[in-house]
Amino acid sequence: MNPTSLIILVAFFFAAVTAAPQPNQGRPDDPEPELIFITFILYSYIFVTTCGGIVNAYSASIEFQLGGSIRADMRCVWIVQTPYFTKRFNLIASGLKETDGLYITAVSIVGLSSSEKLSTIGQNVTVTSRSAMITLIVGHAPTLGFKMEFYSSGGSSVAPYVTSYTILTTAKGNVTYPSNGGNYGNYEIALFPIAASVPGQPTLRFTRVDLESEPTCAYDSIKIYNWFDGNYLQVAIFCGNTIPTSVTLQDGVGVVLFKSDLSWTRTGFDFQYE
Ligand SMILES: *[C@@H]1O[C@H](CO)[C@@H](O)[C@H](O)[C@H]1NC(C)=O
Ligand SMILES: *[C@@H]1O[C@H](CO)[C@@H](O)[C@H](O)[C@H]1NC(C)=O
Repeated sequence: MNPTSLIILVAFFFAAVTAAPQPNQGRPDDPEPELIFITFILYSYIFVTTCGGIVNAYSASIEFQLGGSIRADMRCVWIVQTPYFTKRFNLIASGLKETDGLYITAVSIVGLSSSEKLSTIGQNVTVTSRSAMITLIVGHAPTLGFKMEFYSSGGSSVAPYVTSYTILTTAKGNVTYPSNGGNYGNYEIALFPIAASVPGQPTLRFTRVDLESEPTCAYDSIKIYNWFDGNYLQVAIFCGNTIPTSVTLQDGVGVVLFKSDLSWTRTGFDFQYE
């Protein structure tokens, strides 16, 4: 089975489990088996082996080039969404070097949290947010692969979470949001990580911005994050019709994060990177 069919299978069980009574409310970690849980653990533990991707699951293993090599300066971004709020990431095996890094970043309505590095075997990084990003940064020399797992637990959240995500892996591209024209919706969080599969330093330019306006962009906003020294640094926040200055992603990774609040929607934005 390829990863896509696994994810579809998982999506199916997701739907089945979501419709059933919530079995895991308020439990601290790794729940006791119940009939419904046994059913979904069998099918919701998914295996991901690609450089980056969207992982919607209760738990998963992410294994990339374990026992093999990874090219110098490689970047991969995985977006993890789980139905439960608490996520524990655990490093199982790793050939990564000191100059490489595997980072966990929580994503929420307020933006990206500071990133935590997962570097020693057995180490746990726990985040409390329904969505998170995993970022692989390889130094200027080839390295070896890794395997990690995550588990979600605790209560399910009513807080807003990521409503749209697109991982940009081509060397250059144009993005229009919303892609179908018309206005964006209320309560959106749209996440656009930029992590080209061929190492580079793309420059990000906005060419159109049409968002609800507010002096501090407290209602609807776009934030740009530029990867620097182990973190996603917020380098711009804007709204209304403000076109920000261009940003060069000197480390080859960045994120565009759009969010809207409960009212007043507009036609969105266009950006390009190359
Ligand atoms: C990581 O968490 C698991 C489950 O709670 C625990 O068994 C394990 O000892 C933890 N690892 C470390 C290094 O604390
Ligand atoms: C993006 O669109 C602009 C304007 O249409 C065009 O000039 C540019 O070549 C496009 N860039 C890419 C990377 O497709």
